[in-house]
Amino acid sequence: MLVRVPLHELCHGGFTWVSRGQWAYRCPVATVTTQQAPRKTPKTGKFSNSVIKKAVMAVSGIIMILYLIAHMIGNLHAFQGADDFNEYSHWIRRIGEPAVPEETVLWIIRLVLVVSVVAHFWAAISLWRQARRARPVPYVTKKRVQQSFASRTVRWGGLILALFIIWHILDLTLGAVNPAGSDATPYDRLIASFQNIPITAFYVVSMILLGLHLRHGIFAATQTLGQTNKRRERPVNVIAYVVSGVITVGFLLTPLSIAFGLID
Ligand code: HEM
Repeated sequence: MLVRVPLHELCHGGFTWVSRGQWAYRCPVATVTTQQAPRKTPKTGKFSNSVIKKAVMAVSGIIMILYLIAHMIGNLHAFQGADDFNEYSHWIRRIGEPAVPEETVLWIIRLVLVVSVVAHFWAAISLWRQARRARPVPYVTKKRVQQSFASRTVRWGGLILALFIIWHILDLTLGAVNPAGSDATPYDRLIASFQNIPITAFYVVSMILLGLHLRHGIFAATQTLGQTNKRRERPVNVIAYVVSGVITVGFLLTPLSIAFGLID
């Protein structure tokens, strides 16, 4: 039997060009051949399981975006030279002093970030498994699947980003895998990493994936938190592009400037 099925479960669709300046938000739609099989009824209701999980994804995502904006701005200290950058790195550890001991605020930030990453991952995996359970019989053929590039890469992108963060901390925070080693200053570690072409390439690919992930995530989060309706779709999509674009370009400025010798 041939049917057109909107993929409602985890419907993170994408924008599709319709005609003359018109964009329409579409859920992925597949034309599929199905075998008749009983389908489990997904839970519904305002506070159903999946709504809570999507809210967890949205809130943890927003926390991480706020951190990314602050981190991206902080990295731009590299353009002010070694002393400024090293001083900035030292300042991060002293936030809140003398009211609280050194690194207290930094550890609170780290804790909030770890909780957000774990919650984001848990909700993503559990929503994905829930969506699979709701369709126990796999599609036999997929003739057409309308999905934005970002929504297709969002899961793999998320996984690669998790690996990136592990590498990144070993590289620039701990210096364990950094070409300049762990005894070098933060600025020297930064320069050593981005004078290395394979490392810079890994960062560039990761930042592009981050941009795609953010673009998709910001739109999905506003949907989940009830901020979108037909009229608001377009401005929300513009905001998603602008925020993800600024963060991606802002992060890319430092490594590319070092790689091209504008900072040394
Ligand atoms: C090209 C882009 C980036 C550059 C140049 C960069 C640079 C740095 C530097 C220099 C540090 C060490 C700071 C210090 O110890 O004083 C650092 C730490 C860190 N970065 Fe990035 N970063 C980038 C992208 C990202 C992204 C995209 C994420 C998250 C997805 C991220 C998450 C972190 C985290 C969690 C730390 C550890 C902070 C701590 O606990 O001390 N960074 N980054």
